[in-house]
Amino acid sequence: MIRLGVNIDHVATLRNARGELHPDPIKAAKFVKKIGADSITIHLREDRRHINDKDAKKICQIKNLPVNLEISTNYRIVKVALKVKPSFICIVPENRKEITTEGGLNLKKNSFKIKKIISKFKKENIRTSLFINPSVDDIKISKKLGSDCVEIHTGKLSNLIKSKKDYSNELNRIKKCSILADNLSIEVHAGHGLDYKTTKVLSKIKQIKEFNIGHYLIGESIFYGLKNVIKNFKEILKKK
Ligand code: PXP
Repeated sequence: MIRLGVNIDHVATLRNARGELHPDPIKAAKFVKKIGADSITIHLREDRRHINDKDAKKICQIKNLPVNLEISTNYRIVKVALKVKPSFICIVPENRKEITTEGGLNLKKNSFKIKKIISKFKKENIRTSLFINPSVDDIKISKKLGSDCVEIHTGKLSNLIKSKKDYSNELNRIKKCSILADNLSIEVHAGHGLDYKTTKVLSKIKQIKEFNIGHYLIGESIFYGLKNVIKNFKEILKKK
């Protein structure tokens, strides 16, 4: 069974645009799970532009809801994450001026820091993941750092497919990395920029066990409703 993780950050983006309470990300988290998502993802950014500490705390307290908390390596964020105790963490790079997470982690440069963070979460029995570019070197480093999972950044592939360009090299890169990670007993996830078509293309890679999808899914729900959109993604992942 391939799992669907739904990123609900942009429910909070919409709420924050008004500075009031609606739409409520806590309600979204419960609702998304009820209608078929396997887990929810939230990114507690250093600038708190969408999900805030109170949201993260409340969402992690929801019973029977696997929560994947995306965090940077900033020590203050790590501290909050250890306190709210999500089911999973995914370490991502963060650049204050970026609109969204632009690429994978620089594992070579930050290996010491990341290894220490991974061991802190492992002590708490929290599953760890690293958001990386599809690079064989980064898969090998992820293994050395002791990460349980890697999430492969699919932004480049998504952009190539959306602009109707040749995407075979990028797809092969992702496939090669997924096979290597699987051989090294690292669970493979995929995320960033995914829509129906890109998810369908990637779902053929049988080593990918989890897809984390946000912006397109929430955007498409404006037209067709969360329930229908989640159902469509689940169908794609079921068919493979
Ligand atoms: N996975 C990770 C690690 C991310 O940082 C993001 C973006 O926040 C996503 C998945 C979801 O990407 P998108 O919103 O483009 O679907």
